[in-house]
Amino acid sequence: MTKVLINEHLVDEQDASVPYNDRGYVFGDGIYEYIRTYNNNIFTAKPHFERLLRSAKEIGLELKYNVEELTELIQELLAANGVVNGGVYIQVTRGAAPRDHAFPTPSVEANVMAITKTYDRPYKLLEEGINAITTEDIRWLRCDIKSLNLLGNVLAKERAVKYNAQEAIQHRGDIVTEGSSSNVYAIKAGEIYTHPVNNYILNGITRMVIKDIAQEKGIPFNEGTFTVDFLRNADEIIVSSTSIEVMPVVKLDGEQVGDGEVGPITKSLQEGFNRYIDTDS
Ligand SMILES: Cc1ncc(COP(=O)(O)O)c(C=O)c1O
Repeated sequence: MTKVLINEHLVDEQDASVPYNDRGYVFGDGIYEYIRTYNNNIFTAKPHFERLLRSAKEIGLELKYNVEELTELIQELLAANGVVNGGVYIQVTRGAAPRDHAFPTPSVEANVMAITKTYDRPYKLLEEGINAITTEDIRWLRCDIKSLNLLGNVLAKERAVKYNAQEAIQHRGDIVTEGSSSNVYAIKAGEIYTHPVNNYILNGITRMVIKDIAQEKGIPFNEGTFTVDFLRNADEIIVSSTSIEVMPVVKLDGEQVGDGEVGPITKSLQEGFNRYIDTDS
């Protein structure tokens, strides 16, 4: 029987539930993480758990676990569900309380929930690339917090689906920010360009890995803003996340990107990423 982590308990999936007045459900008042496991190893575990704690802190949510305790709880869940290659979704809400916008007083216990999934890497898409569209970024101004409020992201992704694409690349005015669930990179004349880490984007863990790989390979990694026009004229485009890794975009708004093939810088970063998976522990 598949288990779900509810606070510190591993509960049978069919018995897992959260209260109707949980603030995550009512207000989206909570935060989350999504972490990948490869060959029984939680990939880049530390930065993910650290980001979860940072997100909690940024919204004034008190979480009684540290990185080590969280890692242990998640390891137990993954082991109970026999996940070798897959992922774990962890969400923490401000807890259950009568509906009132202000934080509950006295404060209530945060609710922690985690679920797992077994699946393989997206080999075919990594080799062939995906289609993306561009869309206005209508989200709030704290996109650095991995908050449960994802309506802007949900609407952007749904628009992508409507246009037969797998990702929506968002822009505020002219400036490209990030994908609906990924970071975005334009590659031009052998250099990588990506939005700087600030409140307009999530500081992706995969982005950190890509930055490391680029530095190791001597590929210039420019963290500065760029326009939608610059993106359209890129030689290669990549979107990255925990689940899609280093994903090439071969069509943007129906137009071919560069020569329409997965490019050499993308392939080089993918090769570096494969090695990173093998050495991360
Ligand atoms: C909006 C957004 N940006 C970027 C990312 C990439 O982050 P990571 O590489 O840590 O998965 C995600 C991942 O879900 C995301 O939702």
